[in-house]
Amino acid sequence: MSPDTHSNREREAEVAVLEPDPEDAAPEDPRPEPELDPDLAARREAALSHVRKFGDPVLRTRARPVERFDAALLEEVRRMGELMIDAFGVGLAANQVGALRRLLVYRVHQQSPVAALVNPEIEWVGRELETLEEGCLSLPGVHVDVERPVNVVVTARNEHGEPITVEASGLEARVIQHEIDHLDGVLVLDRVGRSQRKEAMRALRAALDS
Ligand code: NI
Repeated sequence: MSPDTHSNREREAEVAVLEPDPEDAAPEDPRPEPELDPDLAARREAALSHVRKFGDPVLRTRARPVERFDAALLEEVRRMGELMIDAFGVGLAANQVGALRRLLVYRVHQQSPVAALVNPEIEWVGRELETLEEGCLSLPGVHVDVERPVNVVVTARNEHGEPITVEASGLEARVIQHEIDHLDGVLVLDRVGRSQRKEAMRALRAALDS
């Protein structure tokens, strides 16, 4: 998942760019990239080049449970965490780096360590729903409003194979649900209505062609 849900500053900047001449800026135009330190921008580009994009069948395939908790798994978690941070993502599922394993990493707060969930299962969802904008590293240019439960309880293993239970709410719950969707071959495009999907597909085609 890309950090659009909480990057208000970035969105304000984009709005400011678009406001002076709304006639020229049709809503379907791809959003301008925010200004970025060149080093960070280069690292982001490099990281994004390792992320599978829309159209790759691996994104539409259900990942298989992880059975071995070994050094290779630790290395995969480390690499995914690094890619996610370099790409400015808040979550990343193994499908997105071409591995059909039920493994995801996420980091909602910049000061927190990267968390890994292996073989996650949603055990419980609360009744309260919330709609917020989501982006996805595999869907460049796409920003859609997705309705999801605010509170979830997820059981999983950590990268060492120890059973864990995560009681998540708000952005953390949203990111976990978004990434578990990836493990099931589900994208945010499947979670929105027809008009949002149409607009998202247009933005996606423009972003993938550029
Ligand atoms: Ni995603």
